Amino acid sequence: MAGMTLTPLNATAITDSLSESAAAMFTVEVHDSVGSTNDVVREHEVASALQGVAVLAEEQTQGRGRRGRRWHSPAGVNLYLSVGWRFHGPVEGLSGLSLAIGAMLAEAIARNYDVDLALKWPNDLYYDDRKLGGVLIELLGEQNGMIPVVAGIGLNVSMPVDDADAIQRPWTDLSTALGVPVDRNLLAARLINQLAVGLMNIAGGELASWLHRWRKRDFLYGRQVLVDGSPTVAGIAAGIDQNGALLVSTETGESVIAGGEASLLEIGETG
Ligand code: BTN
Repeated sequence: MAGMTLTPLNATAITDSLSESAAAMFTVEVHDSVGSTNDVVREHEVASALQGVAVLAEEQTQGRGRRGRRWHSPAGVNLYLSVGWRFHGPVEGLSGLSLAIGAMLAEAIARNYDVDLALKWPNDLYYDDRKLGGVLIELLGEQNGMIPVVAGIGLNVSMPVDDADAIQRPWTDLSTALGVPVDRNLLAARLINQLAVGLMNIAGGELASWLHRWRKRDFLYGRQVLVDGSPTVAGIAAGIDQNGALLVSTETGESVIAGGEASLLEIGETG
């Protein structure tokens, strides 16, 4: 299934499958090749046109991951999607947003494709102990009490096996997880539909409920982890707090970690 030829992305096909509320919230744009879809959304913002956009590209030449990593983004085989919108809720509601978005994606995939993904703190999507996708949130400067947010979503759909060496960590893709080919236009529409509902929920103060849903898919829970940062923390992952910070039980007590990279010691991941 990996690396098979897929139907091209098409903005009309995606828009036709959007719910009424998602179509009202997001204008869909499809590009052939861009540096990073997150940057395309930022450019909309610079032009003050960010009403709510969902930007997809067949290929990214400068795909970014969290913590300065690159995101391997070959043409025509995966999903590179960035949504931009203005967050109306209180700034405190933004902490935990990236975890909530991970939970939204996992739920949309579970409901529509009958496959359960795990969430590795903060927002990696995992299947079978391998990374299938990730989220990169970028906040732009506050404007009149509203905060423009860019949420970049990378999902491996049908990654060519030849690309294995280009990715440093254990990975998988959605068509492998499902055992059937995936229509990326329908997948994109389903994710955007879920994001429209979930982001409205959060703006309405329902972050806690999304963090609760995140906890049901906690990949690290109860496992031995090493979290880099200063200082590095080693211990047993013990869930997340009400802001989405990682809790780690250590020999000297519980650590609350707001940002960083957690590695699972058991499977030898080095981060
Ligand atoms: C991570 O797990 O490190 C986050 C990966 C995020 C990748 C997506 S692909 C679409 C958007 N554009 C980017 O350059 N990055 C995000």
